[in-house]
Amino acid sequence: MGKRKEAERFGVSFEPDLLKKFDREIAAAGYECRSEALRDLARQWLSSRQLKQGKGPAFGVLAIVFNHQRRQVSKRLTRLGHKFFAEVVTTVHIHLDEHNCLEALILRGKAQEIQQLADQMRALKGVEQGGIVLLELQRKEKKGG
Ligand code: NI
Repeated sequence: MGKRKEAERFGVSFEPDLLKKFDREIAAAGYECRSEALRDLARQWLSSRQLKQGKGPAFGVLAIVFNHQRRQVSKRLTRLGHKFFAEVVTTVHIHLDEHNCLEALILRGKAQEIQQLADQMRALKGVEQGGIVLLELQRKEKKGG
């Protein structure tokens, strides 16, 4: 191992409710400070992303929850769907309550393209939760075919 590099500090802002829940759960999980919990989350996220950078044909199922009244989020989601190489095959929209919608999107393309599209959708302001299941298609090749 080389010389240990000094940790860099940066500011993070959380909404009060989110911070309260985060603090409660990291304490329950045994973390002594937020920084350690955030570092672990970053490591997990980075390693899961490495799995998702394949170039073969794939499908993704993205589920997002968003407030349809905020910042034209519906329009922006549609715009992203048209802009990317990965294709939105179909979507299912459920009105959860007066403000919130759940949308499940079936995406088709290369794994990394699907990941990019999903990332940008999740990053939109107004999108409050999001999760993706990514399936790479395993094609069996026939010998001599
Ligand atoms: Ni809705």
